[in-house]
Amino acid sequence: MNLKYRIFSLVLVICLALSACQQPTAVPTPAPTAAPTQAPVEAPTAAPVEPTAESPALYLDPAQPPAARAADLLSRMTLDEKLGQMAQVEKGSIAPADVTKYGIGSILSGGGGYPQTNSAEAWAKMVDGFQAAALETRLAIPMIYGVDAVHGHNNLKGATIFPHNIGLGAANDPDLMQRIGRATAEEMAATGIRWNFAPVLAVVQDIRWGRTYESYGENTDLVTSLGTAYVKGLQQVDAQGSLANPLAVIASIKHFIGDGATKWGTATSGANLIDRGDMQVDEATLRARFLPPYASAIKAGARTLMVSFSSWNGTKMHAQKALITDLVKGELGFTGFVVSDWQAIDEIPGNFDSDVVTSINAGLDMIMVPYDYKTFLTTLKKAVESGQIPQARIDDAVLRILTVKFEMGLFEHPYSDPANLSLVGSEAHRALAREAVAKSLVLLKNDNQALPLAKNTPVIFVAGEAANDIGTLCGGWTIEWQGKAGDITPGTTLLDAIKSSVTPESQVFYNRFGKFENQKDANGNSLKADIGIVVVGEKPYAEFQGDSNNLALSDLDMANIERMRASSQKLIIILVSGRPMIINDALESADAFVAAWLPGTEAAGITDVLFGDQPFTGKLPFTWPRSMDQIPFDFNNLPTGADGVLFPYGYGLSVEK
Ligand code: GLC
Repeated sequence: MNLKYRIFSLVLVICLALSACQQPTAVPTPAPTAAPTQAPVEAPTAAPVEPTAESPALYLDPAQPPAARAADLLSRMTLDEKLGQMAQVEKGSIAPADVTKYGIGSILSGGGGYPQTNSAEAWAKMVDGFQAAALETRLAIPMIYGVDAVHGHNNLKGATIFPHNIGLGAANDPDLMQRIGRATAEEMAATGIRWNFAPVLAVVQDIRWGRTYESYGENTDLVTSLGTAYVKGLQQVDAQGSLANPLAVIASIKHFIGDGATKWGTATSGANLIDRGDMQVDEATLRARFLPPYASAIKAGARTLMVSFSSWNGTKMHAQKALITDLVKGELGFTGFVVSDWQAIDEIPGNFDSDVVTSINAGLDMIMVPYDYKTFLTTLKKAVESGQIPQARIDDAVLRILTVKFEMGLFEHPYSDPANLSLVGSEAHRALAREAVAKSLVLLKNDNQALPLAKNTPVIFVAGEAANDIGTLCGGWTIEWQGKAGDITPGTTLLDAIKSSVTPESQVFYNRFGKFENQKDANGNSLKADIGIVVVGEKPYAEFQGDSNNLALSDLDMANIERMRASSQKLIIILVSGRPMIINDALESADAFVAAWLPGTEAAGITDVLFGDQPFTGKLPFTWPRSMDQIPFDFNNLPTGADGVLFPYGYGLSVEK
């Protein structure tokens, strides 16, 4: 047992002893320590001690260190109150009265989990309503509300929607990433939400995975750098980096571990393709390729970690005690708390009783139930009372959860502040998103000096559904879990942006299908465009619904390209997709080809670069395949030569002015 752990244990025993005998003394701040690698200290099972006038509860004193406050509070809690803290329940599945009755520690919105009226004010009212119920509990322990704000506060209509992570991987700008984290935190916290289930730290090995776009790329160092920057952005919204700042939001680094490294066809849930499948690598590869982003984010102070649905060499991650407890909490010294994924413990082989025992004993601290919290709590209590789950494991879990809540100042400021609502979708945040879009674009081809475009180009034809559709530009995890085509939230479409970029003498025509035969020139002949811009790619999807073994462009996209090729002097193709696609024929047809990924609500960032106001700087965060036969890549032996990859990792052209 290392020295630091001994100090922590000694201090913890002192805290528990002191709080148990209620001596109001200054409690030394426990030295920062590696978390226990063995069973944590046996917390006293003394009956909860009520605060008295002469010895107000230490946990209510904001001057005390979070760990000491947590230890004091823990000593006052009944078993039921402790177990309630370990339950995370979906907001539509529980009435506020039950939040009070069961002392629920956390509420979440899943993808698309917005209130009846999807406005910032309605979100704040909903979250504050649950919080009021939590504060009605005997010890007034605040709940913490969590959402997937994976590219902005993306369930909220009117929030700034940033490019999905794949585009930010192409931008590869840690400072930008940190600023996006902070802006996202501000929009979330404005609605009372202080926990983001982000960033995804997957180092994606197979782009057939439907969650490829949620990752920064295939390279460990890239994911490490940007994931850590984003965690800092979320959690350190002021110079002091204090989590207690009401605008700070805790990160949830996910999905631990190897969610993006599973083998095609090994999935055990969802569409049974690759999402939630089995990662089949040795420990050396796990440590070298997939662990560094987590180690770095933990060192940067990440306060929660979400476990993956997937498996490692046949064992579900939610059952992997050696990884969760020994590696994360022990070796990496993670002092935050570990949360499950959505109903993920149910996928552990065995029945629900054994799922609860296995996952909690593996080191899970909070369970995203998310529906049947009564059964979960009954099952958990039974397991503790039977000794299947040691009391010390419960106390360790609850201590971690409470410590984070104290660090966040949730006891001092549990509610949203209406003064912050103007941060949602603010001009400053939208300008930041526009900068991110510009930096995310990757130029794959630029023949015949097609780019940059002149702002006085006489005739421009624009085609493709995505050119005029915010929902498609945003992709999955936007307003709805799966995302949705259409005018789903305020923003600037590419067509809007093109029209705003050109001078009055330029004529811009749009047709979704690239059909412009009705456009005639002065002589009544079919008009030809000086520049044709056609947007092709993928429709919105999320998670396993995006798993696909066919990444070819659709027949409609190819038909649009063909029509636009025939009607334009120069043709610019823009790919809006969550991953590289098979584009060989399209590339042949184009004068210029741009990978725009999933840019979000600020498509003016695209025209900033197309018209030369900003440079092309983006570089590919993924190796680009020439055919599906090349996938999954063996990164130690990539195909080369005429049948090699289409574009290598890191490829991207710039434009000579
Ligand atoms: C989902 C995802 C996870 C998300 C959680 C809550 O299934 O796997 O990334 O944080 O459920 O929405």
